[in-house]
Amino acid sequence: MIIMHGLLPLPPARVRLNRSVSEAFRGVTLVHLPVKKDILPITAEVNGRGHLVVGGCDTVELADKFGTPLFVYDEATLRAQCQDYADTFTAPGVDTEVIYAAKAFICKAMCEITMEEGLSLDVSSGGELFVARSAGVAPEKIYLHGNNKTPAELEFAIREGVGRLVVDSFNELDLVAKLAAERKACPRILLRITPGIKPSTHSYIQTGQIDSKFGFGLADGTAMEAIERVLATKEVELMGLHAHIGSQIFKLHSYAKAIELIVDFIAEIRDKTGFVCGELNSGGGLGISYEAADEPSTIAEYAEVIIGNVRKATAAHDLPMPKVMIEPGRSIVGNAGITLYRVGTIKKIPRVRTYISVDGGMSDNIRPMLYDAVYEAFIANKADRKKEVTATIAGKHCESGDIIVKDAKLAAVEVGDTLCTPATGAYGYVMASNYNKQPRPAVVMVADGKARIIIRRETYEDLTRLEV
Ligand code: LLP
Repeated sequence: MIIMHGLLPLPPARVRLNRSVSEAFRGVTLVHLPVKKDILPITAEVNGRGHLVVGGCDTVELADKFGTPLFVYDEATLRAQCQDYADTFTAPGVDTEVIYAAKAFICKAMCEITMEEGLSLDVSSGGELFVARSAGVAPEKIYLHGNNKTPAELEFAIREGVGRLVVDSFNELDLVAKLAAERKACPRILLRITPGIKPSTHSYIQTGQIDSKFGFGLADGTAMEAIERVLATKEVELMGLHAHIGSQIFKLHSYAKAIELIVDFIAEIRDKTGFVCGELNSGGGLGISYEAADEPSTIAEYAEVIIGNVRKATAAHDLPMPKVMIEPGRSIVGNAGITLYRVGTIKKIPRVRTYISVDGGMSDNIRPMLYDAVYEAFIANKADRKKEVTATIAGKHCESGDIIVKDAKLAAVEVGDTLCTPATGAYGYVMASNYNKQPRPAVVMVADGKARIIIRRETYEDLTRLEV
C-alpha cells in the first residue's frame, strides 16, 4: 500500500509517467509530506513504511543501494520545469528563447534532458562548453558567458561555432575580433550590460549593480562606448544586449526596472547610431522555495513580467519587439534534486545544542557557509513521524562552520538514519569539492520507479588520479 500526502499531486501536462494517475492512487492513504510540497520534487510521496519516495523510488533503498551522500534528481520535475518555461515564455507574435543556465547543474544527462525539451544552453566556461558538446548539444543553441574568457576558451567557442558569444569587456571584444579574423569567422555576439540594478538577494549573487565585475555599465557611459566600438568592428556581428541582475530573486519588480533601463538604452542606441537591437536577453534569477516561508513567483508570472515589460517599453519608444530570451538555472533544477546523507554521530550538549553529524557537508553543499543559505531537513526513513527534536545538522569536515542546517526540527534521530535535505538540485553538486579529500558523491536520476546513476561516486583512486 502506498501512503501519500495531502492533496493529490496531479502530474503536470506532458510529464511522461508510465503509471496512470488512477493507478498511482489506488489503495492510497493520505499523509502529509515532511516539508512544504513546493520544496520537494513533484513526484515526492511517503510510502507505507514512512519512507520518502521520489520518482517512484524509495529513497531509503536508494541510499542503501548507491551509498551516501547521494544526490537524487527527479526526471519528471526537471522535464516539468523545462516544459513550464517552454509553454509560458511565449506570446503571440513574439520570438522567444529559453536558455537553460547550465552552471546550476550540468552533466551529459542534464544536457540531454534540456535538449529533448527544446531548450538552448548557457555555458560559462570552456569546460561547460565541452560537456555540452560531448552531450551533442547543437553549437548554435549554445551561449557562452564569462567576464574573463581565456583566449583558449574563445578559440574553442569560435571553432565550435557557438550561437552567441556574450561579450563582457573591451579587452574581450579586441580578443574576439583578433581570433575571428584569424579564423575568418564572424561570431554573433550580445553585449553584456550592467543596468545598475540591485535586486534583493545575497550580495554575492547580485550582478546588475554599478559596482560589478560583469559587463558594460549603463550609467557611466561605457555601454554606449562599447556599442560604438562593436559597430565599428567588422569581425563580429552585434545581435543585441544581455543583462543578468542576480539570482534567487523573489521580487519581480527588479526585472521590470532593469528592462525599462535596457530598452531606454536600446532607443538611445537607435537614435545615436541607427542600429536597432534585435535581441534582448534578460538573464536568469527566478528564486525557488528552500524553506516553508519562501514564496517565489511562478514561472508564468516571471515570463509575463519579462515579456510584458519588454513589450511595454519598446512600444513607448516606438521600437520593434526584439527577440526575448531568458536564462533560468536554479528554477529548473533546484527543487528537482535532494541530497541523502547517513547520520553517523549524535552529540548532545546539555542545555546548549544537539549536533547530528552526517557523512557529507560543505564538500557537497557549500551554500550554507557561502551565502548563509537556509535548508530544511528531515529523516527520510521517518518521513511520517512527528518532528519532536531540534538539532543542528553538521557535516564531517574539519571546520566548525561546516553546518548544513541550524536548529532543524526532526523526528527522533538515531545513528544510521537517512537524512534528507531537499532543494539541493541547484549549485550543489556543481560547487562540490574534494576538501579533506572527500570523494564527490554519486548522482542518480529517478523516474517511473527506476534509478540510474548519471555521475558515479568518486573513488579514493580518483583522488590521486591527477597527481604526477
Ligand atoms: N545567466 C547568467 C549570465 C548567470 O550568471 C546566471 C547565474 C544565470 C543566468 C542563472 O541564474 P539562476 O536562474 O540560476 O538564478 N552559486 C550561486 C548562484 C550563482 C549564480 C551565477 N549566475 C548560488 O548557489 O546561489
